[in-house]
Amino acid sequence: MPPDTGAADDAAVQRARLAVLISGRGSNLQAIVAASRAGTLDAEVCAVISNRPEAAGLAWARQTGIDTYVIDHRRFGEPVDRDAFDRALGARLEALQPDLIVLAGFMRILGPALVARFPGRILNIHPSLLPRYPGLDTHARALAAGDTEHGASVHVVTPELDGGPVIAQVRVPVQTDDTPASLAARVLAQEHTLYVNALQQYVHSGMRLDCQEC
Ligand code: GRF
Repeated sequence: MPPDTGAADDAAVQRARLAVLISGRGSNLQAIVAASRAGTLDAEVCAVISNRPEAAGLAWARQTGIDTYVIDHRRFGEPVDRDAFDRALGARLEALQPDLIVLAGFMRILGPALVARFPGRILNIHPSLLPRYPGLDTHARALAAGDTEHGASVHVVTPELDGGPVIAQVRVPVQTDDTPASLAARVLAQEHTLYVNALQQYVHSGMRLDCQEC
């Protein structure tokens, strides 16, 4: 018997095309690509887009042979013309024709017009148990509040920051000696599995997001 990789045996399962958007390290991107290449995620990363040319994840993607694109927000004026940036990003995404747009540490807020171009087709991962702690510094905020558990959420992107319907969550116990960094590291390790599983679930739901509000 061959090992059970968890991948679909069913040849009818269509592999999803994912466009992954990053701004930095790209460890979630790497987990998604690893699962795709191992056959445990029925999807391909068709492109990586970064708003930061210096993002470490972008260099990694290039080296690994994935098509990469930079749309540098700093080239859209000072202050940044958000609508113009969103239009450029939207045009690139439309050209790529992904089934799903996967935000993985993408540090720009997508405006309503861009979100409306891809209804229910943009996912994000956020390092908190949403609706707790939308925004930044989630680990420090969880510790400051004395929370005994923290975690991460995968949610559908809507124009509200970290506010769209949650489709998957993982809980991580807080330890008494945790610092924001130690907690972040433990949550991040869980994020990788959570995101891959949520994407696999999406593919196996006929490329529809499994939530009532989306
Ligand atoms: C992750 O913690 C993710 O939840 C948040 O940004 C971080 C990105 O990390 N949105 P990485 O770039 O995937 O390593």
